[in-house]
Amino acid sequence: MRYYIASDHAGFGLKNRLKLGLGREYGFTDLGVFVAERIDYPDIAIKLAKRVAKEPESIGTLICGTGIGMSIVANKVPGARAAVIYDGFTAKMARQHNNANIACLGARNISEQMALLLVRTFLSTTFLGKGKPGERHLQRVRKIGKIEEQHFK
Ligand code: RB5
Repeated sequence: MRYYIASDHAGFGLKNRLKLGLGREYGFTDLGVFVAERIDYPDIAIKLAKRVAKEPESIGTLICGTGIGMSIVANKVPGARAAVIYDGFTAKMARQHNNANIACLGARNISEQMALLLVRTFLSTTFLGKGKPGERHLQRVRKIGKIEEQHFK
């Protein structure tokens, strides 16, 4: 499993703190930014989403001011399933039910402690669709793939 992380300028400080707090466990590959200069979030989100979509055994974390811009962009990439997570429940459900492979966080609306908890939860939770009782989740995620095939040409 490979773990990617990236942010725009608004998420730069939190990205560094997440790397400090969780880097030992998850050994993130940092796709930038590397300085706190203003940058457009689409340029960052697309880079990470393409990597995650290409590598099925990978998970990404994207941080901007709210997490919203990053998720909008990331979800334009077929195979990327990005979710804005903001509490323990959404961090868990995004993986268990939606098989989300990218967590999007807002550096301006959650604390560092909360961000650490959310990312740790997201990265350590697995999709329920791999086992018999969770078949319905797999079926739903497969439908997302079909929608991508039909609409992203
Ligand atoms: C940057 O000011 C901010 O708009 C961006 O980080 C993000 O919140 C967009 O969704």
